[in-house]
Amino acid sequence: MSYTIEEIEELNRRFEREEPDVVLRYFMEKHGSKIALSSSLSIEDQTLTDMMLKIDQQARIFTLDTGRLFPETYQLIDKTTQRYNIKMEVFCPQAEALQRFVYEQGINPFYDSVEKRHACCQVRKLEPLSRAFQGLEAWICGLRQAQSITRSDMKLVEWDDRHGLLKINPLIHWSEEQVWAYIKSNHVPYNKLHNEGFPSIGCEPCTRAVKPGEDIRSGRWWWESPEHRECGLHRR
Ligand code: ADX
Ligand code: SF4
Repeated sequence: MSYTIEEIEELNRRFEREEPDVVLRYFMEKHGSKIALSSSLSIEDQTLTDMMLKIDQQARIFTLDTGRLFPETYQLIDKTTQRYNIKMEVFCPQAEALQRFVYEQGINPFYDSVEKRHACCQVRKLEPLSRAFQGLEAWICGLRQAQSITRSDMKLVEWDDRHGLLKINPLIHWSEEQVWAYIKSNHVPYNKLHNEGFPSIGCEPCTRAVKPGEDIRSGRWWWESPEHRECGLHRR
């Protein structure tokens, strides 16, 4: 199933002002088992998890386990699957490719250069993502425009040309405060690291705490300049 630019624009016009759960219901009904949430267990993804499971207990949720996540993130995967009584699809890097990469580049090559960092994200995230996409028509993400300069022009509905998939960002216009309000009022489980100064959480070696008032993504790949701070998952 592919979409023209006009069809994507029409979907954006139609759903621009709708609540995230209305957007989710429409696309979940349309794509059934061929749509899935790509969850990093962030507050945005936990919000979407809660909304999606209230719409359909069979909703599909997958996560990319890079092998370098924080222990608190693994605890949250466990807590979430138990709390909602669901299975989460966990995609891991391909063992031999990862072994080869580590042998050739070292275990922590990402601090050396942007190229090496992208190579690590490629083997630990992007290749597993391409397997997660098999059989899908659409994927749902927790992106918000306010998260960073790299995301300010992202849309609610996008055509992901690289993967030939529809990409839905139901929280695209939400503020961080709105997400927290949803998490608190619906008692949604969240990563304990958020209470310790980590607003945005990825892999452990590439994430650090930020000071109050600092940019929420400044603790991600902090040694790189802001325009590079994407892992390739959302390259357009
Ligand atoms: S990242 O690209 O810089 O890591 P961020 O952590 O802000 O992104 O997450 C943005 C969105 O990308 C998430 O809401 C989620 O949809 C997707 N995403 C990021 N990391 C993962 C992951 N490890 N597994 C699945 N989806 C992810
Ligand atoms: Fe590797 Fe860091 Fe990318 Fe994780 S975020 S895949 S550890 S470079």
